[in-house]
Amino acid sequence: MSELTKVAAEVRACTACLLHRGRTNGVPGEGPEDAQIMFIGEAPGFHEDQQGRPFVGAAGRFLEELLGSIGMSREQVYITNVIKCRPPANRDPLPEEVAACSHFLDRQLAALQPRLVVTLGRFSMARFFPRARISQIHGRPRRVGGLLCYPLYHPAAALHQPSLRRVVEEDFQRIPKILEQAEQIAEYEPPPEAEQLRLF
Ligand code: URA
Repeated sequence: MSELTKVAAEVRACTACLLHRGRTNGVPGEGPEDAQIMFIGEAPGFHEDQQGRPFVGAAGRFLEELLGSIGMSREQVYITNVIKCRPPANRDPLPEEVAACSHFLDRQLAALQPRLVVTLGRFSMARFFPRARISQIHGRPRRVGGLLCYPLYHPAAALHQPSLRRVVEEDFQRIPKILEQAEQIAEYEPPPEAEQLRLF
């Protein structure tokens, strides 16, 4: 059994925080085990909780559209979230929920060793850039430890705010070039712990 499959099984059985009580399904993430890009969203919503799959609602349709605009499909990339179970009424994840779930994302990163990590929204951005503001750093790739991270606005935010839609579309267009320029990772180096990043 691969590490990603193991993580998925553990997510579905996880009781580490209270979110497990309200879930229909844990949502570990999905994609090919040799994907070059990992997209990281915030948390499952209603449809994701129902189906146990990430980004299958309105934001997911927009994400698929964005992928299509750069000649890619969701089957080519790995898609996951910071939080693997749906928060009630889609509220923001709590710090203790992020903390309880963080080892899953770290293990997924170590197993996939993506060439590029694209964070969608401020909660996944905060794992790599804890002090940053998304309005200031979106659309600019940066190395965090050995990992190349590209912070973007969340597709759901873009759906609700038409002015952001163009920004997300433009930022997305740069992904192929960034990927092309990203060196092949010779040896995987995990990003520093979120706690450590907060000290910088
Ligand atoms: N929004 C997210 O952040 N993740 C999903 O899986 C769906 C919507």
